[in-house]
Amino acid sequence: TQLAAGQQKGTAERFTRAGFILAAIGSSVGLGNMWKFPYITGQNGGAAFFLLFIICLIVVGLPILLAEMTIGRGGRANAATSLINLTGKKYWGWLGFLTVGTAFLIMSYYAVVAGWTLHYTLESFTGALFQEGADYSNKFKAFAGGYMPVFWQAVVMVLSGWVLARGVSGGIEKLNKILIPGFLIILLVLMVRSLTLPGAGKGVEFFLKPDFSLLTPESVLIALGHAFFSLSLGMGCMITYGSYVEKQQSLGAATLAVGFGDLVYAFIAGLVIFPTVFSYGLAPGEGVGLAFMALPAAFSQMPFGAFFGGLFFLLLSIAALTSAISIMEVPMAYAMDKWRWSRTKAAVVITALCFVIGVPSALSVGGVLSHIEITKDKTIFDFVEFVTSYIMMPLGGLLVTLFTGYAWKRAGEEAGLSGPWYKTWMFLLRVVAPILIILVFLYSVGLIKF
Ligand code: PHE
Repeated sequence: TQLAAGQQKGTAERFTRAGFILAAIGSSVGLGNMWKFPYITGQNGGAAFFLLFIICLIVVGLPILLAEMTIGRGGRANAATSLINLTGKKYWGWLGFLTVGTAFLIMSYYAVVAGWTLHYTLESFTGALFQEGADYSNKFKAFAGGYMPVFWQAVVMVLSGWVLARGVSGGIEKLNKILIPGFLIILLVLMVRSLTLPGAGKGVEFFLKPDFSLLTPESVLIALGHAFFSLSLGMGCMITYGSYVEKQQSLGAATLAVGFGDLVYAFIAGLVIFPTVFSYGLAPGEGVGLAFMALPAAFSQMPFGAFFGGLFFLLLSIAALTSAISIMEVPMAYAMDKWRWSRTKAAVVITALCFVIGVPSALSVGGVLSHIEITKDKTIFDFVEFVTSYIMMPLGGLLVTLFTGYAWKRAGEEAGLSGPWYKTWMFLLRVVAPILIILVFLYSVGLIKF
């Protein structure tokens, strides 16, 4: 291919149409959908918050998602080089490199959590997890505080590295084509199971009962921050996947499909989790507490609980794995474009490096490094999570809005938008999204309060 002046060589690998949409859904549907979304919805007014989340998704999430895919396909390279290719300006490359670093850091701790889910899947199916009268929070603490998480983190790295080494169509696409439909089937089975438990209605009520009095200005920021994380934005992921999309594919349609898919999976996850938790009289919690402490207690009392528990953790593992490979592809693509590494070399070197950097995170959740506090009350794990999700990802998102809204003049053409659609997209990218992202950012770092 002919390169215009200032352009750098990018990728020649391509997704099929369906493969791209499934891979992008695989990226967006992750632990965020399974253990964060249901809980924040319940906490912030149920259906009222759900509505708010949909608005945030439409007003900020989808425009940025489309922008990222468009940048990738237009620039045809990794998240940093694409920005250079589209403007001919080197400094955009430096800014874009921020997102590559973000992805690398996110993967270092995301793999730790993904590892926990694999361990719990195995322990559930074998029945080893469930004992009469066991205290599942102590059980989790004993596990996470030991050295086993490092082993499972390594397993996640090897699995992801292996898939990534097989390439875009032979690895990423193939994996998602099998796992994402499988995921939906397991989710539906679990939904039927949980909705037919005695007292399931109380859980549905907690999740969905509209209570507008629980909506606060803070809820808006929570909804917005989550729309961001949930769509995998601000860290070069959708730029990188976008660089593998065929020219004929409609990016607008892909954006709608991914946004809708993300929403549906999150919604069903809520219908699995709360009826189960409430039916057994347990307290709902967020994240680790919900998935690894409350739910095992429920499964242990359910007929065929080992089987349903196993399915649930398998679900979490799939969600985590398909997201993990999308995160990892960001630094992979960078190394392949920039340093001309082969895919295999990039997979080996980057997963190994990311593993090493993640070990301190793995050992800081109750383990030997848990006494180290980087800032007040933040262990290594907490700190890496905080800096990436609340500082680096919003900055990456802001970068995308400014780049597409102001710096790159031909975004509309690449996105296939014109007329009022284009005008609306630009208004959201130039004005609405940047203002909201800055507000979320200031709120997250504690500079504004409500
Ligand atoms: N979207 C994923 C989730 O909801 C997380 C993720 C973030 C994946 C960033 C890729 C990139 O869990």
